[in-house]
Amino acid sequence: MTTMTHHLVRAGFRVPDLAASVAHASELLGLDVREQTADQVRLALPGQEPCLILRTHGSASFDFMALHTTAGNLAEIRRRLDAYGVAYSDGFELEVPTIRFHAPNGVAVEVGVGDPHVRNESPREGGPVIGALDHLSFAARDQEAFKNFFIDVLDFRLTDSVLGERHWLRCNENHHTVAVFNGEDGLHHYAFETSDINGLGALGDLLAARGQNFMWGPGRHALGMNIFTYHLDPAGSILEVCSNMLQIGEEEEWEAEVWTNGLKSAVLWGPLPPTGFREVFIPPLQESEIAR
Ligand SMILES: [Fe+2]
Repeated sequence: MTTMTHHLVRAGFRVPDLAASVAHASELLGLDVREQTADQVRLALPGQEPCLILRTHGSASFDFMALHTTAGNLAEIRRRLDAYGVAYSDGFELEVPTIRFHAPNGVAVEVGVGDPHVRNESPREGGPVIGALDHLSFAARDQEAFKNFFIDVLDFRLTDSVLGERHWLRCNENHHTVAVFNGEDGLHHYAFETSDINGLGALGDLLAARGQNFMWGPGRHALGMNIFTYHLDPAGSILEVCSNMLQIGEEEEWEAEVWTNGLKSAVLWGPLPPTGFREVFIPPLQESEIAR
């Protein structure tokens, strides 16, 4: 079977202060509120289906990630989950055939049949034009198991590694849609894409007006070549805004590179990461904590 292509379309978070998290997503990223109840808000970029689902919870946690793929890929993924011995169930978020299961670090993954989002390019006054949700970077106690699960079951490809500790995986032309490094089980950061470095400047101005600053960047990663900024959202999750990520054609011969110098892979230019950057994470939502 040929290589599977999927697209990241949605991420869900549990947040302690729903109003603050919604204000952050709408004011800084330009996301619009599409549906709102007392304890859940669905946010979307102009012209897209919702890409960010925020729900109230006592503490910040990562709820789920959702991929869109083809019906043929979904059938194959069901077979591979069976072979892997991983249980799956119908999903909750998508109004299309969807399965839901857990990755080895406890993160819930939904895979549904659907198209990628059309990249948003609507002009915006006073803030970055955010194109789409771009990638998710996880931490896992067993990062090899996480990497192998995404490769074996979801047909992700290894794009780059730093020694045996950190892995960047792709499922379409984007250099990475999912990354993982060794740490406590959870999400390290989520990333939205903007068109160019001007978007990062506009974001910095908005942060400054709120008395906040980037925690890292602007800079350019060597690995993936994306220009980046990172800041903390109101729930304490790290949000990256990035641009100009390396694109790898499906037909392109790509040899996964094993970088031996973590700092060189992290910074082509710009400041070094702050102390403790990799230790920040939010845990996966424990389903026992909530009544869905
Ligand atoms: Fe990232």
